[in-house]
Amino acid sequence: MRPNPLRDPRDRRIPRLAGPCVLVLFGVTGDLATKKLLPAIYDLANRGLLPPGFSLVGFARRDWEDADFAQITYEAVKAHARTPFREEVWQQLREGLRFVQGEFSDDEAFDHLARTVAELDFERGTGGNYAFYLSVPPDAFPIVVRQLKRSGLSSPPEPPEGTSYRSWRRVVIEKPFGHDLASARELNSMLAAVFPPEAVFRIDHYLGKETVQNLLAMRFSNTLFEPIWNRGYVDHVQITMAEDIGIGGRAGYYDHIGAARDVIQNHLLQLLALTAMEEPLSFGAEALRAEKEKVLAAVQIPEDIATGTARGQYSAGWQGGIPVRGYLEEDGIPPDSTTETYAAMRLTIDSRRWAGVPFYLRTGKRLTTRMTEIAVIFQRAPHLPFDATDTKELGQNALVIRVQPDEGVTLRFGSKVPGSAMEVRDVNMDFAYGESFTESSPEAYERLLLDVLIGDPPLFPRQEEVELSWMILDPIENFWANHDKPEQYPAGTNGPQSADELLARDGRAWRRL
Ligand code: BG6
Repeated sequence: MRPNPLRDPRDRRIPRLAGPCVLVLFGVTGDLATKKLLPAIYDLANRGLLPPGFSLVGFARRDWEDADFAQITYEAVKAHARTPFREEVWQQLREGLRFVQGEFSDDEAFDHLARTVAELDFERGTGGNYAFYLSVPPDAFPIVVRQLKRSGLSSPPEPPEGTSYRSWRRVVIEKPFGHDLASARELNSMLAAVFPPEAVFRIDHYLGKETVQNLLAMRFSNTLFEPIWNRGYVDHVQITMAEDIGIGGRAGYYDHIGAARDVIQNHLLQLLALTAMEEPLSFGAEALRAEKEKVLAAVQIPEDIATGTARGQYSAGWQGGIPVRGYLEEDGIPPDSTTETYAAMRLTIDSRRWAGVPFYLRTGKRLTTRMTEIAVIFQRAPHLPFDATDTKELGQNALVIRVQPDEGVTLRFGSKVPGSAMEVRDVNMDFAYGESFTESSPEAYERLLLDVLIGDPPLFPRQEEVELSWMILDPIENFWANHDKPEQYPAGTNGPQSADELLARDGRAWRRL
């Protein structure tokens, strides 16, 4: 058989290990670093996926020595690592930890960073391969990238005479990539002036979640779902990411961003794209991204944004029996802020497969519970040969991909209630990760960090996807900016009433949180 030239030739069954390298982490004192990134690095080391010389350099303003950084890393690992703590793994990792103190505007600090990584190359054989992870506020991206260029860190040296060895440099940017289309383009040109496109890794951690990747396995390794995965059978799709937490200590970031930019532009539109896309030629970067882009380019926003979207802001309420503050009372939030902490919208996809099928997206903070799911709701049977009373407890068939926290898949369908009457009621068939697999799922950041160090790009959205997503969101954000304030909803509830009305107008209701 002629090999398909677009198929990814790498055999993914071979365990993938990172080669020698240094990871430079900007923003080591932030929440993301301590709760996710540092523990994920330890977990990778513990799983034997990092080379012995792997080194990690933290860069921050704090007046720390290497030992202080090591202590913070140790505490983060102890508190948040997924895999058991092993002293020998920690000791090995610890030997490669370095800290560089400085401001982003400080040339000398970046020169110090350049000397530090060069020393690591010499001492630990890291080969001049550096990944720079920018876990910093978006407005700091330009200055850090400029400093990487100025200090010579962004470009690998020419291969030594007579060899073909070339070291690599990569940069990792956290979402959201820009705050609208114009700023995303600006950010991209700034990056493009320093790094080639293949060296830029845009993180959307939802793509690293095991349950999200399983969406691809489920859709494209089975025959069962494909025939009904279209407008002929699907009534609508609900994609929900609900959180019970508030904004925590992130006021400075969040108040400029809001729920739609924070979550819908990236996580939820990516979930929509993976749910709706056609089968890719392979799971290689080129093929996968091309299919997602086709979906994003076909997305239509509601004609009437006022009735086709909803937004809210949490007011004081109760969470788990504890009274909590409203958004406007949170530290660092201006009392007249109009930033939304809840957003919902109805989108459609102009394609033969999906014409006329609404995709409802919703996300919010301080809701009743933490839950992310994709629910594909099927049409009712065209004819029910039962007495009307027999099926009054029969809803619509549904396939629910439970992304988190109770990872799995539920299939809901009608079944006869035992007894002499032909009464039909909804029942659930369940696949739960915890029951079917003994191994626990790696954290999204483990997978994504490893992919960065290996240089494997499929799970990182490219610029086209980012731009297409902003093209969807920008008109909605502009409309909101010129209209009323978001509706208040008490913390610990299901969100604003206008979100329920959005679905009610279409004769539908949100799934229970
Ligand atoms: C981040 C958002 O991308 O995702 C946060 O910026 C949100 O606001 C977080 O809390 C949720 O991630 P997860 O993996 O817990 O669903």
